[in-house]
Amino acid sequence: MKWNIIHLEEIDSTNTEARRHAMQGAGEGLVIVAERQTAGKGRRGRNWESESGENLYFSMMLRPDFPVEKTPMLTLVMALSVTKAIEKFCGMNPAIKWPNDLVLSGKKICGILTEMHMADGRIEDVIVGTGINVNQKVFSDELEDKATSLLLEKGQNQDFIDKQKLLHAVLAEFEILYETFSKVQDLSFLEESYNERLINKNREVLVLEPGNEYQAVAQGINSKGELVVRKEDGSVEAVYAGEVSVRGIYGYV
Ligand code: BTN
Repeated sequence: MKWNIIHLEEIDSTNTEARRHAMQGAGEGLVIVAERQTAGKGRRGRNWESESGENLYFSMMLRPDFPVEKTPMLTLVMALSVTKAIEKFCGMNPAIKWPNDLVLSGKKICGILTEMHMADGRIEDVIVGTGINVNQKVFSDELEDKATSLLLEKGQNQDFIDKQKLLHAVLAEFEILYETFSKVQDLSFLEESYNERLINKNREVLVLEPGNEYQAVAQGINSKGELVVRKEDGSVEAVYAGEVSVRGIYGYV
């Protein structure tokens, strides 16, 4: 992959900016990075606080040649890529909260928002947007209990983490996984690595399906990236990453 990285001081949302470039015909591999976002987007219409200039906010634009239903798998590919990059570059071991949050000490350090655009029934572009809390030391009252940063987890007196180097480490990991994924078009090749890092594994989760909530025990992902859960009546179900989220029965994980 040839990455074409555009670094901005401030933008509404790197996902939105990547989409603008996509609409103007930009090629696959475009990466928009911003120091700050004025309208950072989270999943489920939430916003993503991104004012501080201390964290990584970036979106990559891909033009994959695979069926639409494979797109949510890219989010899991990115989650594993960021995890591996943090392991190697920072020497820390984040866990993955299915499908795409990264967690340290039970708090969120990374979120991923994948947006797909179609034309004539085919994928026109996919924007994978990633926010990593890198050097932030103070969080708003609302986030304090739920979010942390790599720096806070390393210890306050540590040096700032080089965001640009971390970005390159993530891109390098993603490139390796994306190459295989594009060929095999399923996640069997990373199922084991992902499940080893899955915080939900063997834990009780609340499955939040549109119009249907139930409690179950998570077993791990399958080759489609679905979360396999065992319900209280013993039946096993695979939960699709595109529409469903899970949380711990007592809180976030
Ligand atoms: C989530 O809700 O967990 C997903 C958060 C995704 C945030 C990132 S920051 C860079 C990119 N641009 C956005 O507007 N959102 C994503």
